[in-house]
Parts: sequence; C-alpha cells; structure tokens
Amino acid sequence: MSSQIDEIKSRLDIAELVGSYIRLQKAGSNFKALCPFHNERTPSFNVSPARQIWHCFGCGKGGDIFEFIQQIEGVEFGDALKTLADRAGVELKREDPRLKSERTRQFALLEEAAKFFEANLSRHGGTSGGLTALDYLKKRGLADETIREFRLGYAPDEWRALGAHLKQKGFSEKELENSGLAVKSGQGYYDRFRGRIIFPIFDYNGRVVAFGGRIFEVPTEDRGPAMPADASIGAKYVNSPETALYQKSKILYGLNFAKSEILRASECVLVEGYMDAIMSWQGGVKNVVAASGTALTADQLKTIRRLAEKLIVAFDMDSAGEGASKRGIDLALAGGFDVRVAGALDVGLKDPADAVCKNPALWQKAVLSSRHIAQFYIDSALKKYKPNSPEAKREFQRTVLPVVSSLADLERAHWVREVSGILNIKEEAVWSASEKNKLAKGAENVFEDSVSKPKARKELLEERVFGIIAEYPALAPKLDPALKSLFSSGPDGSVWAGGRTAIFAELFLNGILDAEAEFIKCQRELKKEYLKEKLAYLSAQINSAEKTGEGKVGDLLGEFQKMSKELHTL
Ligand code: CTP
Ligand code: MN
Repeated sequence: MSSQIDEIKSRLDIAELVGSYIRLQKAGSNFKALCPFHNERTPSFNVSPARQIWHCFGCGKGGDIFEFIQQIEGVEFGDALKTLADRAGVELKREDPRLKSERTRQFALLEEAAKFFEANLSRHGGTSGGLTALDYLKKRGLADETIREFRLGYAPDEWRALGAHLKQKGFSEKELENSGLAVKSGQGYYDRFRGRIIFPIFDYNGRVVAFGGRIFEVPTEDRGPAMPADASIGAKYVNSPETALYQKSKILYGLNFAKSEILRASECVLVEGYMDAIMSWQGGVKNVVAASGTALTADQLKTIRRLAEKLIVAFDMDSAGEGASKRGIDLALAGGFDVRVAGALDVGLKDPADAVCKNPALWQKAVLSSRHIAQFYIDSALKKYKPNSPEAKREFQRTVLPVVSSLADLERAHWVREVSGILNIKEEAVWSASEKNKLAKGAENVFEDSVSKPKARKELLEERVFGIIAEYPALAPKLDPALKSLFSSGPDGSVWAGGRTAIFAELFLNGILDAEAEFIKCQRELKKEYLKEKLAYLSAQINSAEKTGEGKVGDLLGEFQKMSKELHTL
C-alpha cells in the first residue's frame, strides 16, 4: 500500500492538483491562494511544490495531497486514495478494505445506473408510436457529442427495469433505496425514474451522485398499472432525493465540466436549468453551471469563489428580483463576487438553451454584454420611472441601494456617484443612505463567518516568523515560548486547530544562516498583533458584561490592564 501511495505522490504535482480546485498565485517558489477551508480576504494558504505540502496560516490546516483531497471533498482517506490513484493512473493492486466502504458501493451503483440509462437512450423506440427520447433531445438542439459528454440517458417506462438490472449486478434493495433510485412501497420497491430523459448529476470530480429526470411528452393513459399514489407523476422534473452522496445545497450542475474554464476565465456563468447549462456548453460558453431551480447557497458560492471572481447570472431577472434568486445574489455580493447580469435575450427566446438552439452567437453575445448588477438595477428602474420623479427615488432605494451598499468601499463610491448624478441628489446623502443600508444588512451576512475578519498584518508576520524557521531551523529553539502559546490559542483562549502546531514539525528543514535579528523583530511584532487581538476581544467582553451585568467586569478589567501593559512594554 505504501508503495502505491508513494507512486501516486511521485506522479502528481501538488500545485497542479490544488490548482485544479482553487486559484493559485505564484509567490516565489511557492504558490499562494485564498484558503478554501476558511473565509479570508488576503491569501494565507500556501502550497510548496518543493516539499509537496500545503498549509494555511490562517486556519492551521495543512498536509499532503491526500489530506487536501480529504478536506476539500470531505471524504475519508480511502476515497481520497481512489480519486488520486485514478488521477495518477495508478492501479490500486491490493484493494484496501477501506475502499469497499458503503460509499464506494454507492458510487459504483450510481455509475451502473448511469450506464443503464445511457444504453436505454438509443434503445428507446418511442412510446405509443410517439417521439423517442433521442428525437426530443435532438429537437432541442443537442449534438450527439454533447449527449455523450453529459451522459444523458433514458429511464424505461417500467416499474422495475432499473431495479432488476441493479439487483442482477449484485446490489441489494436496501442499497437501491439508499441511492434514491428505488422507492419503497407496500408491494416492494419500484424505480423512481420511469419514462423520463435522465440527466446524471455529477460531483466535482465527475462521479455520478444523483439524477434529474425530465418528462418529454404528455403522459398518456397507458403508463402501466396503477401504483401507489405518486405525486411526482407528471411533474416536469423528478430528481434524486438527498442522499449520503448528494446534498443539493452543495452541488452545482455542470461544475465538473466547467471548473477548468471557470478557473481560466475567473468568471462563472450561472443559469437556471440542466438544459441551459448543457446547451451553453455546447454553444461555446463552457464556464457555466446551473443552480438547478433553487437559490444559490453559501456552500455553492464558496465553491465558485475558489475558482472565479466574477459571477454572471443569466436568470429571468424580472422574477429573480424578489425571492429565492435575490437571496442568492445578495449572498454572492456579500461573498465579494463581482456580480453581473447577462444581457437580455431577444424576445421569443425562452432561456439560454433556447438561444443556443437558435444560434449560439445569440447566447455568446448575451454573456459578453453582461452588466454590473448595480447598472442592471439602475437601468431597470429608469425603464420604469423618470429620474426626477419620486417613484424613481423610491425604486432606487429599494433595488439599487442594497446592491451598492454591499460593495467594497471604492467600488461603492463609484456607484454612489453614479446614483447621485442620475437622481440629482447630493453624493453625501446617497452615501449616508447606503451607509444605513449597510448597517441594517451587516448582521445577516452568512457567507462570511467569524474567522474571515481581515488580519493581514498578523498573517504576514506569522508567515515571516515560520518561514524563517523553515529556512533556518537552528533558530527554532529561539522561538519565544510566550509567542508559541499565544499562537496556538485563539483570542478567547480556546485551543486552535492542532494543525497549527503541526506546521512546526513540517517546517523544520534545511540549512542555517544569520536571520536572527529579523526573526526576533518579527516575533516581537507578531506578539503585539496577538495581544491587540486579545485586547479587542477582552474589551468586547467587558462591554457586554457591563451591559448585561453578567460576568465579572472586575476580573476582565484586570486582565485587560495586564495585557495592555505587556503590549506597551514590548
Ligand atoms: N426543476 C426541478 N423540478 C421542477 C422544475 C424545475 O427540479 N419541477 C429544476 C431543474 O433542475 C431545472 C431547473 O429547475 O433544470 C430549471 O427549471 P426549468 O427552467 O423549468 O427547466 P429547464 O431545465 O430549463 O427545462 P426546459 O428548458 O427543458 O423546460
Ligand atoms: Mn429552460
């Protein structure tokens, strides 16, 4: 086993692997990135090709390629091993028992089902002499190659076709049910997907984790014997339920195909449906994913944010102005995305899929002519109202200001000036309105969590200090023990991720030189940063203790004075 691990490690380059998940910037002989494991605005995630390790100075996580896959995919070692073996083209000889986990069997089952649906697409002869599944897809403009690439399929219009096939392949009914492909009823199990076009839904690495099934003709009377009440009959889409492998809020349809294009362009086009994503891809706009009919979640946005800075939404914005899509857009803005809205499609074109079907250039043009979301709302408001009317002001307040307020300061200043010019209102007044908006919104920013506070200086110093140790390990004993204990505890005294100290071991390498002065200076500065952080925390504690009357204000004050004295004697 260990020789296989070494073999995999020797064949894969950590920077290339990590770089296929997140946007890396070259920094000397290393790479830096915004950490994918915690929110931050300045990069403290480092990849060292020389040592084939990665480490985040912000959250303390780190390790080799296997640990990276485990963390980013949220999987066990066995799954990471398999993923990386595939990637490296290494055949795992003796199958590790850990690989035969329930999870692995689920992947195998879903893959088998996908193959079954694919094979049935060409076999389908049409129901009641009607349209075949393939005819339908062709009519929608899909090319054979696209159908193959996205592995579209057909679920026969029978109650147990897939179930029987999978059982014959050695899967149990229980496994079938767990996969979401079979539904239990009084009479046993029956197939969830029947008489539908099948869209396999893939995870980041292109493994099938679920399916969406689209109806493609009006249901006829002769759809087989009456079975238990099934509300989904007749629904346009039937989708896999959530399973161990499929969490709807985390998956983005098409991301496995689009990820490298998204990374390359630093731009992600977001459409509504499976068909839109597939047709967009076929039509040459390949950096595209679909939200699959739900609002974007923070998890999905975080995944995209690792790859891209710009998000181009191609929703029907009239209906997206309110409700679920709006929430997704708000989240994206809060997450620091440059949010843009794709240009309107010509009248008569229903959605991106429709546009590509007619002419791919129409869709490409719509994406190229995207506007900043603030501009989009400004234009929409001005289409409805004259700028000097009170209605326009009301509309700007309602739609434009919330967007402007969530932008970073300089960008915000730009749009404040725009708005001020259009409405002929003093810039200061617009700015203060946006300020109020910002305050009111501040509390509900779920994209950012508490670890995301900017701490650039501290991080830089940490890197410097530990970078010096890495280069000059002989200096390690000179590491101030007080600093070490401050380093490994959070401002509230909690112990931080053990990984933080793991870096010590990881970094003890190489030769020696006189970097002592720099080392001592950096440590002193870093110690100041830690103390300031603790002081800020303590003062917040004191404030709240004073307000609520709970907690010992005196003790806290004592602690505060002690620390601030320490800070000033440094
Ligand atoms: N959706 C769903 N269940 C439904 C309707 C929609 O899960 N009953 C999801 C699907 O992921 C679908 C997306 O919402 O892809 C967008 O819905 P819609 O625009 O209605 O479907 P399209 O995929 O665009 O299908 P088509 O263009 O073929 O009508
Ligand atoms: Mn559609």
